[in-house]
Amino acid sequence: MTGDIIVRARGITKRFGDFTAVDHVDVDVRRGEIFGFLGPNGAGKTTTIRMITTLTQPTEGTVEIDGRDITKDVSSPAKEDIGIIQQHISLDKDVSVLENIRYHAILHRIPRKEAEERIERLSRMMGLEPYMDRLVLNLSGGWKRRVAIVCAIIHEPRILFLDEPTAGLDTQSRHMLWDLIRGLNANGTTIFLTTHYMDEAEELCDRVAIIDHGHLVIQGTPEELCMGIGSWAVEYRDSDGVKQYRYFTDMEQSRAFQESLPLGSRVVSRNTNMEDVFLEVTGRDVVATEEVTFRI
Ligand SMILES: Nc1ncnc2c1ncn2[C@@H]1O[C@H](COP(=O)(O)OP(=O)(O)OP(=O)(O)O)[C@@H](O)[C@H]1O
Ligand SMILES: [Mg+2]
Repeated sequence: MTGDIIVRARGITKRFGDFTAVDHVDVDVRRGEIFGFLGPNGAGKTTTIRMITTLTQPTEGTVEIDGRDITKDVSSPAKEDIGIIQQHISLDKDVSVLENIRYHAILHRIPRKEAEERIERLSRMMGLEPYMDRLVLNLSGGWKRRVAIVCAIIHEPRILFLDEPTAGLDTQSRHMLWDLIRGLNANGTTIFLTTHYMDEAEELCDRVAIIDHGHLVIQGTPEELCMGIGSWAVEYRDSDGVKQYRYFTDMEQSRAFQESLPLGSRVVSRNTNMEDVFLEVTGRDVVATEEVTFRI
């Protein structure tokens, strides 16, 4: 069923001594969606994912997975619903791909015959077959991530958490991973991922939330968030040469504003994107250039 809530986090808070890394965050993830959790470095993304996946206990707040409170009962069967690929992938580098995957199958007590069937199917799906006997240490970052994905989904979790799945990967590997994530999602796995990349959020995610300094600042579909600040973006340089952004809900207003700029101004008029939303809500600068026009 698509649309009902599979993860419901309420008021989750994590303090490290006097420092509050995550401050009363509410998150709802709907079954069957790809949910993106965005934020600058140190915003609290990993800490939130760790609380939701029972890797760390929240200082305050509750997390329900499929209606079961995992913060109260960490041995709950709800844990079996979760698969996680951590930001710093933890595979055993000195053994083969196959042994790493088998180890996870054993951890989840999957009967041997069933495990071998799943390993065969998943390694085929991930294109890992030629690599099964290689030592993990000899694989590139993109292939290691695929191995990590197979390890994380061998027990067929209903929801897969990926912390920065494409960080540091080349463009080709990123696109391959996007396809894999889409494929898993199409097969019914709900996806929760964190990312720094706004294009990733826009391309992949049904809904996104942005966290900044431990506070959840905004949540919705990329389209809703773009419309929220105004669908028409105008980039221009002010009289000091500093790049400025203005957003408009109405194209006519956007045109009128451009007309009001001094002759010769360098103006970019385009649709608002997630980088704009990120800039607006976190105050962080972005680089965006499309359809450069000069007013003459
Ligand atoms: N175990 C810890 N002890 C003390 N502070 C911590 C601990 N873990 C995280 N923090 C701090 O909490 C804040 C949030 O960290 P977190 O790793 O969740 O951020 P993030 O959004 O995942 O960042 P990044 O984009 O760099 O991965 C940071 O300021 C970090 O230094
Ligand atoms: Mg992180």
